[in-house]
This record gives sequence, C-alpha cells and structure tokens, in this order.
Amino acid sequence: MSLFISFEGVEGSGKSTQVHLLNNYLIDKGFKTLLTKEPGGTEAGEKIREILLENKFKLAPYTELFLYLASRSQNTIYTIIPALESNKIVIADRYSESTIAYQVAGRGLPEKIINEVNALATKGLSPDVTFLLDFDPEIGLQRIGYKKDRIERENIDFHLKVRAAYKKLSRQYPDRIYMVDASRPPEKIHQIIINKISNLLPQLKGNKQNNHAHK
Ligand SMILES: Nc1ncnc2c1ncn2[C@@H]1O[C@H](COP(=O)(O)OP(=O)(O)OP(=O)(O)O)[C@@H](O)[C@H]1O
Ligand SMILES: [Mg+2]
Repeated sequence: MSLFISFEGVEGSGKSTQVHLLNNYLIDKGFKTLLTKEPGGTEAGEKIREILLENKFKLAPYTELFLYLASRSQNTIYTIIPALESNKIVIADRYSESTIAYQVAGRGLPEKIINEVNALATKGLSPDVTFLLDFDPEIGLQRIGYKKDRIERENIDFHLKVRAAYKKLSRQYPDRIYMVDASRPPEKIHQIIINKISNLLPQLKGNKQNNHAHK
C-alpha cells in the first residue's frame, strides 16, 4: 500500500518547510518516500517550471494553464505513479488543487472544463490527503521578500482569490483536504500534520525500508 500526500497554500505559506519536515519524519520512521514539486518533478517539468516562473515571458491564461498541466501530466506518469506502485509515500509540494485556486479562481478560467483537463493530467489520480496551509497572502509575500517569481508578482487581489478558493475546496472536500492555520510556528504545524496522518501510517505495511521481523 502506498500513500499520496499533497501540500497546498498561497505563496510563502510554508509548504516547502512542511514538506521537508514531513519527509524527514517519515524517513526517520523507516518509510520510503518520494518528494516532488509542481511545476517540476521531472526533467521536462523543470524546463516548464522555468518558463512558468521566471519573469521572462508574458503568458496568456490558457498558455499558463496548459504548461502547468503539461508538467503535471509528465510528473504523474513518470514520477508519482511509479513511486506509488513501488510502495512509496509520495509527498507533493502542490498538485491539482493549485490549478483550481490559481487558474480558475485567480485567472477566471471556466471551472467545469478545467476540472476535466485537470483529470486528464492527473489520470484521475487524487491525493489521499491534502494539507492546506491557510495563510494571509500579504504576510506570505512579505516572507518571500523582493525576489518574486511571475506568479508572486500578481496583485494582492489575485492572491486573496486564491486563498478564498482553497478554503472553499477544503469545505467542499472535508474528508480529504485538511486546513491548517499556517500562522502557527513550523514545529506546531508539523505536529498537527503528523497527528493527522498517523492513523494512515500503521496500514502501510511493506513500505518500511527495513522489514525486520517482529517478535
Ligand atoms: N510556520 C512558519 N512560521 C514562520 N515562518 C515560516 C513558517 N513556515 C515557513 N516559514 C518561513 O517562511 C518562508 C516561506 O516558507 P516556505 O518556503 O516553506 O513557503 P512556501 O509555501 O513553500 O513558499 P513558495 O510559495 O514560495 O514555494 C521561509 O523563509 C520559511 O522559513
Ligand atoms: Mg515552496
């Protein structure tokens, strides 16, 4: 059995911090993990990430959408699915909900069609659990500082729409998308995340790196 965990949230909400804390925790417990991020996660995906995030290009909304989905399709097929098939715990720094929050709510693209193309890119795969790090984007952007990527340079209204859409998604899918107050200290957030997934972990037999026989 495998487990797919994703992290979502506005810019600077602490996703990467929590992804690494969780990854270290799971490795420490003897689990095999795969860490991945979007856009990116594959060699082609990293090239796509450059186009999306460097401030070199002006991208039309659908150009942006299809590049994110191209990266996701590549990552799903060549990285995430093989890792799940080899019993790893996959931890993704952003996945499908980012598209709903940024491209549907932020850019105003039509939800129904975007859900359909998103499902093509994920091959219908959904994380088992998603941690939404809910945070004030104004403070998140301050944390990032002056070196902002193309998306981080969007105005505050855009980021507020993204936050609101994430909250709506967590209300829509309360069994899967778990909202955490990301204004708390990193260690506290980490503990909340560990508590939440601990009930899923005992079932993960066969995932442990060293399968010592228990007496
Ligand atoms: N809970 C927290 N409290 C205070 N500072 C934090 C917390 N979590 C992360 N930080 C700090 O905030 C900054 C942004 O954190 P991080 O890079 O983890 O966020 P992110 O959501 O991955 O951002 P991005 O959207 O840019 O990828 C970092 O400097 C990090 O050390
Ligand atoms: Mg990050």
